[in-house]
Amino acid sequence: MSSIIEVIKKRSSVRTYSNRKVAKDVQEKIQEHLQSDCQSPFGSQVRFQLIQTTENERQELKELGTYGTIKGTHLFITGAVKRGPKAMEDFGYCLEKIILTATGLGLGTCWLGGSLNRSTFARKMKATEEELIPAVTPLGYPAEKRRLIENTVIVLAGSRKRKQFGELFFEQDLNRPLEMKETEKYFLPLEMVRVAPSASNKQPWRIMKETGTDIYHFYLKENPLYNRILGEIKLQNLDIGIAMCHFELTAKELGLGGKWEISEPDLEKGNLIYITSWNGKN
Ligand SMILES: Cc1cc2nc3c(=O)[nH]c(=O)nc-3n(C[C@H](O)[C@H](O)[C@H](O)COP(=O)(O)O)c2cc1C
Repeated sequence: MSSIIEVIKKRSSVRTYSNRKVAKDVQEKIQEHLQSDCQSPFGSQVRFQLIQTTENERQELKELGTYGTIKGTHLFITGAVKRGPKAMEDFGYCLEKIILTATGLGLGTCWLGGSLNRSTFARKMKATEEELIPAVTPLGYPAEKRRLIENTVIVLAGSRKRKQFGELFFEQDLNRPLEMKETEKYFLPLEMVRVAPSASNKQPWRIMKETGTDIYHFYLKENPLYNRILGEIKLQNLDIGIAMCHFELTAKELGLGGKWEISEPDLEKGNLIYITSWNGKN
């Protein structure tokens, strides 16, 4: 599968795997991707590793209530990012790129940031004091049938639902819903943000287009209680990085040039948090 738009549409979280081993050459392709420099948009140092969990650890994680939802695979991708400004956005962007590569290879994945045992993964990665482990993903072939527990998670998180275009995207100010025809050039980059994964499917991305330009300002609609519960690990800031990844890769596939820049417009933003802007070349 080569079209990133198709890959983004195909991806959904997989929590039940088939026990089938991931072939060596497929693992090697993933490995290659992990080794290549991600070029995170804000310049944070991010690194990733493919790891195999042992029976002992899986038991330990299960007992801690961590992987009750994940079954049928031993393989994980774990990552670390150096603490710093916008480290979460950078990590979200880079891990999502990897997840899309894995999806393109026919593998299932699932962002796990909520209840994972970070110390086990930190030990495996030999993470330093300066590094954080924001999330991991299991990796494997999806099972033919999902388990009851997975269906329950999907229903509880409302995973299949997405907010409407006009609830997420705005024009000129943050009160006017963006109306865009499907034939307009930035429709698909925005639509690929709309279908992106997000922690508990809260979809905290808000994007404002400047009228008459190809400038798109990205904001976080934070749920502070939810986003700050893990301290420095901010799942909703990871969500913004994921959105940036989908937006940029789709724009590139459509041949739309542009770059990220910090240029916050002067407008009434209420409790939204400004993150960055896409400046598309006209
Ligand atoms: C940053 C982040 C953290 C997540 N953490 C968890 C998690 O700890 N456990 C889990 O089962 N799913 C987790 N998810 C998956 C979301 O619940 C899922 O992406 C969302 O419900 C949308 O469903 P979909 O991925 O199938 O489209 C996480 C997703 C993101 C983006």
